Amino acid sequence: MKSNLKIRNVCCIGAGYVGGPTMAVFADKCPNIKFVVVDKNKDRINGWNSENAKSLPVFEPGLEKIIRKTRGENLFFTSDLQQSISNADMVFISVNTPTKEKGLGAGQASDIKWVEVSAREIAKNAKGFTIVVEKSTMPVRTAETIKDILSAAEINSYKTKSFSVLSNPEFLAEGTAINDLENPDRVLIGGDDKDSIDLLSSLYANWVNPEKIIKTNLWSSELSKLAANAFLAQRISSINSIGALCELTGANISEVAHAIGADTRIGNKFLNAGPGFGGSCFRKDLLNLAYLSRHFGLPEVANYWESVIDLNNWQRDRISKVVVEKLFGTVSGKVISIFGFSFKANTNDTRDSPSIKVVQDLLEEGALLYIHDPKVTASQIEEVLKIKQNCFTDKDFIQKTENAYWQYSKSVRESLINSDAAIFLTDWEDYKNIDWNSLSKLMRVPAWIFDCRAILSRESIVEAKLNYWRLGDGSNI
Ligand code: UDX
Ligand code: ADP
Repeated sequence: MKSNLKIRNVCCIGAGYVGGPTMAVFADKCPNIKFVVVDKNKDRINGWNSENAKSLPVFEPGLEKIIRKTRGENLFFTSDLQQSISNADMVFISVNTPTKEKGLGAGQASDIKWVEVSAREIAKNAKGFTIVVEKSTMPVRTAETIKDILSAAEINSYKTKSFSVLSNPEFLAEGTAINDLENPDRVLIGGDDKDSIDLLSSLYANWVNPEKIIKTNLWSSELSKLAANAFLAQRISSINSIGALCELTGANISEVAHAIGADTRIGNKFLNAGPGFGGSCFRKDLLNLAYLSRHFGLPEVANYWESVIDLNNWQRDRISKVVVEKLFGTVSGKVISIFGFSFKANTNDTRDSPSIKVVQDLLEEGALLYIHDPKVTASQIEEVLKIKQNCFTDKDFIQKTENAYWQYSKSVRESLINSDAAIFLTDWEDYKNIDWNSLSKLMRVPAWIFDCRAILSRESIVEAKLNYWRLGDGSNI
């Protein structure tokens, strides 16, 4: 039956950062297959269906163009879960799997509540033979849970329903999602049913070289995704640890990274020192890996991966300390501009962004913050910080207040007015060519520029008579 099956209707549960862009690229590359993306969040679905590009729930370069081309043709967004599952030959599970906040494994294990809910919906609504694909990053052996739920439905339906479960983790990085999907380094498919693996593989074969499609057992596929993210995160903690040493020894992290990366065994990518990694994946996956290792009786392995997070936390914490120290030991009542609130450039995602911790620390110290980001909105920042913005531009206010405040700023220029310091935390292109010669005059001297991404021109800042500190740069000493 399966070898004759053709995939005509695909459903994806979860219209988030993974589900939306992934299905858009699938729809573009497989015009003869219908893709329906479902989400219980109606606002999200309305956003995906909106004609206004700004209302798309996810900002990704190139995404809007693909949505315009495929939406209404073979790509649909809906909140009708039951119908979408019933019609589907293949269902992707792309729901969120956040770190558990309470109960067993709180703060460490991933919460697969939504995966379980999705599996139950599939069990109830699927018809005939359905291939179920894990797309979200899952703890190893989650497929076991999905299989258990689906097998019970198989038996209950007197085998009128049957299922095959595959793992097909997503390796896209935000900001480059479309390119990562269109030109993947590899596609990974894990499972124990060859026909189902081949069917999923045939979808990818529309645009991916078959040599890049890696087929493994289910558990290798699930674990590979966690391990890949853990290795990437570890690289960032490694380079950040060396960056801190550079600052004290006169070495320069850009030069050291170049020298290390020239070794082809190490490679030159993912070696940029910065304020620490953020995003929805690295911390969550490292915590999950550590939790699993401990669960399986490997505390040393757990400690090893946890140390990658410890280093990352330390890196975030030390930024505000450097700023306070340079500003004569106090930032209370001083105006500081924060440039960049997303966790990296080219995304409006703020999940686990290093900027959050830096902002919280400086607010705690009593600073008045301007926050600027080309894509993150004021209401997003209010939601993350759980503090409403205030207007503090009037000078009397600054002198009178003893509280900490922040204000959203629409431009780099506006942010710099009366600022004592500017901290660059996200590597947005917009920040790379600031005209320091003219804008420096807006700042209150002696003013400091803190470059935590090594994206600014030291010469033009120093020429503009501003003090400059660059993360990982020993010439600060
Ligand atoms: C990551 C993985 O790259 C991707 O394969 C996986 O599917 C999801 O998790 P993402 O979190 O979107 O993707 O972004 P990524 O580019 O990996 O960056 C993560 C964090 O590391 C960001 O905060 C980024 O600024 C930081 N980073 C990255 C550095 O500090 N230095 C680097 O050299 C690279
Ligand atoms: P990711 O980065 O993994 O894509 P997101 O949080 O951006 O995570 O998206 C996950 C989406 O999955 C959310 O929009 C959420 O509403 C949706 N979701 C979670 N559980 C269900 C469910 N049971 N049915 C439908 N949609 C769901």
